[in-house]
Amino acid sequence: MKNIYSFTEEIIEKASNLILKSHKKIRNISYKGISNLVTNVDKEVEAFIIKEITSRYPEHSIIAEESGYKNKNPDYQWFIDPIDGTTNFAHSYPFFCISIAFAKNGIVEFGLIKDPITNELFTAKRNKGARLNGNPIHVSKIKKLSKSLLATGFPYDQQTTRMNNLKNFCNLTLLTHGVRRDGAAALDLCYVASGRVDGYWEIQLCPWDVAAGVLILEEAGGKATGPKGEKYNIFNKQIVATNGFIHKELLKHLK
Ligand code: IPD
Ligand code: CA
Ligand code: CA
Repeated sequence: MKNIYSFTEEIIEKASNLILKSHKKIRNISYKGISNLVTNVDKEVEAFIIKEITSRYPEHSIIAEESGYKNKNPDYQWFIDPIDGTTNFAHSYPFFCISIAFAKNGIVEFGLIKDPITNELFTAKRNKGARLNGNPIHVSKIKKLSKSLLATGFPYDQQTTRMNNLKNFCNLTLLTHGVRRDGAAALDLCYVASGRVDGYWEIQLCPWDVAAGVLILEEAGGKATGPKGEKYNIFNKQIVATNGFIHKELLKHLK
């Protein structure tokens, strides 16, 4: 029998193929909020992943975006985002991914994030480093915020909340080489982990958005905290994630 990690690697590759096949066949888009979309493909891919996991590990708990919490044995938890970047997916903007993480006794042990379009698989096992398609990855060495490229995202209730992240976005755009808004939190974290951007922050996230990405970032030498520099856990909605070097400076400018 394959070990749990190789099993997950197989599932995520199959899910990625499912997404590629369905890409042109989005039958149905519904709304969870004014700008919070969900497609039939999100639901089908999530159902596929959960079916595979529960048929092999029926006692494990599952925390998945489209079907919520299935609490069974709390010592074994899976965090699943079948498509992170659904808005992009629904508009055929090629920046989305699948994110799967596995936690034992509340500690994420491994995480995998697959971008079906670029065929990039970002992975990490705790204390074993982070990889991209099997090759080790590391955060960037940029030391100053003024020389950095950042990423961020905006909450789905941006039309109605005052906490919409726009002030920080404007300020940091003027203080850095720029702030990208690509629309998939899990991939944003992988991009910090692989040195493509130097830092990232966001204010309304869920555990399935970050469980795999934060482990990948930390195993690549990066740092994740809350917005005041406090210890981060994946149930925090707010995250600041960097290469470590620019962390203090970025925290200082986030209001
Ligand atoms: C969203 C994306 C987006 C972030 C949102 C997330 P979804 O996930 O990661 O970048 O700004 O906060 O909810 O809905 O596409 O899975
Ligand atoms: Ca998501
Ligand atoms: Ca999603």
